[in-house]
Amino acid sequence: MTTRRITTLAALAACTSLVALAACGGADSRDTDRTSVAANQPTSVMYFDSTQAVIPGAAVAAGGAAAAPNGAELFTRCAACHQATGLGVPGAYPPLAGSEWLLNNPDVPIRIVLHGLQGDITVKNTKFNNAMTPFGDQLSDAEIAAIISYERSSWGNSASKITAEQVASVRAATKSQTTPWNPADLQGLIHK
Ligand code: HEC
Repeated sequence: MTTRRITTLAALAACTSLVALAACGGADSRDTDRTSVAANQPTSVMYFDSTQAVIPGAAVAAGGAAAAPNGAELFTRCAACHQATGLGVPGAYPPLAGSEWLLNNPDVPIRIVLHGLQGDITVKNTKFNNAMTPFGDQLSDAEIAAIISYERSSWGNSASKITAEQVASVRAATKSQTTPWNPADLQGLIHK
């Protein structure tokens, strides 16, 4: 009885090993490749070619590096306050749609984005007194140009586009500005 049970177990164990060996016996380096690709890519198909696994990532990296800054995409940084509609939030964030600060002398919005803004401001006959953070350290000249150009041509706005060179020259001219502007500092520039 006891002996027979041991024999059965041994046979079972041997059988299991044989099955395992048979399964591993067919393995070659290509199967190992597939296994590692599958581990990195949960949705990959069974016969995934390792060449294909590399191409998509490389294409994204190359495309991302070559692309010019997209003003509409970058505007999401501003939309948190000024809203995707450009209408702002009454009592808190002024509108960009139809704003005299944005649509006249481009030096004004460039200065605001570079260094921030804080204090009493009237936009489209409505008063605000809040603070905007500076973006000069976070965004390149080309990115700032793309965002402001986007804002000057959205929501019915139709002012000229601005260039990275314009941002660079304002950045150089205002480099001693280490705190946010007071709106009163910029009021006189609007129609210059
Ligand atoms: C943290 C909220 C916030 C973010 C983010 C923000 N702003 Fe502002 N912005 C304000 C506030 C508040 C004012 C008014 C400041 C005051 O009351 O003196 C303002 C004023 C302005 C003005 C002048 C007034 C007007 O409405 O035209 C412009 C132009 C402007 N922001 C553009 C931008 C751009 C471009 C970005 C994105 C790069 C941006 N803002 C991101 C809060 C923000």
